[in-house]
Amino acid sequence: MSLETFVEPDKMRERARAARRAGSTVGLVPTMGYLHEGHLSLMRRSRRECGFTVVSIFVNPTQFSAGEDYDRYPRDVDHDRMMLERAEVDALFHPGVEEMYPRLASRAHRTWVTVEGMSDVLCGAARPGHFRGVATVVTKLLNIVEPDVAWFGQKDAQQAILIRAMARDLHMSARIEICPTIREADGLAMSSRNKYLSPVERAAAPAIYRALSAAAEAIASGERSPRAILERTRIMLAGETLFKVEYVELASTADLRPITEERLSGEALLAVAGRIGTTRLIDNIIVAVKD
Ligand code: PAJ
Repeated sequence: MSLETFVEPDKMRERARAARRAGSTVGLVPTMGYLHEGHLSLMRRSRRECGFTVVSIFVNPTQFSAGEDYDRYPRDVDHDRMMLERAEVDALFHPGVEEMYPRLASRAHRTWVTVEGMSDVLCGAARPGHFRGVATVVTKLLNIVEPDVAWFGQKDAQQAILIRAMARDLHMSARIEICPTIREADGLAMSSRNKYLSPVERAAAPAIYRALSAAAEAIASGERSPRAILERTRIMLAGETLFKVEYVELASTADLRPITEERLSGEALLAVAGRIGTTRLIDNIIVAVKD
């Protein structure tokens, strides 16, 4: 089967509805393109569980602040299309800004989705408006494709947790599924932005996952103090002088609130963000304590 491509939201909706009428469950994998193995893992999951898989490629301007990398965000749709064909995805939704936000330039676009309390913490603190842009575009994509399941990556844990909360709060019909982070052999989480790294910077980048893994090991060996875990992670990250830490946090996987208890229990998100040169990198692991 060849890859059907849609630019117009109405045409995309019609096609997805036809697939549903023909008896398929519909899966949606929202992306900003420049696809890599992390994106492909979501598509494979969707292909396994849904009869009709739609991938969207749209570099969403409203989730970039002024001064961020919207203009230089990597784009290569021809290569992406090849990967989608090889992955046997059923349809590509590839709208332009005019299709997704016809009233943005004239300032007549007035509706935004904000997930309160989850948008201004962690990455949201340094990127005001980012999660409003994400929640709004994902709402649009869900309204256009009307999928049974939408697939997201643990790599962007805050995004995934926030979208899950949004879907629940707004009675959205799609099931939100979160898939594991895919990493390079040296542990670096795959990301379209890794392309920005110079060879020296690329060699420094695995320090992030090493620090997260060391924290996980400490917890496995009995460490339960959130303060000690964070301190240990910060010290390890400080060992890589090219990495400039923005935050290291332990947060609730339910609502992203910082863990304030003296003793870690249950499940928590250990999340790191920072820069190597001008490239912003994020990573996280979920730590689970059974006692
Ligand atoms: P993008 O960064 O292209 O990521 C698309 C999806 O792929 C997201 O759900 C992301 O978490 C997932 N992903 C990225 N790298 C991954 C990795 N190494 N392992 C597993 N999954 C990975 O996230 C966005 O686009 C946008 O914010 C979007 C949701 C499309 C809204 O514009």
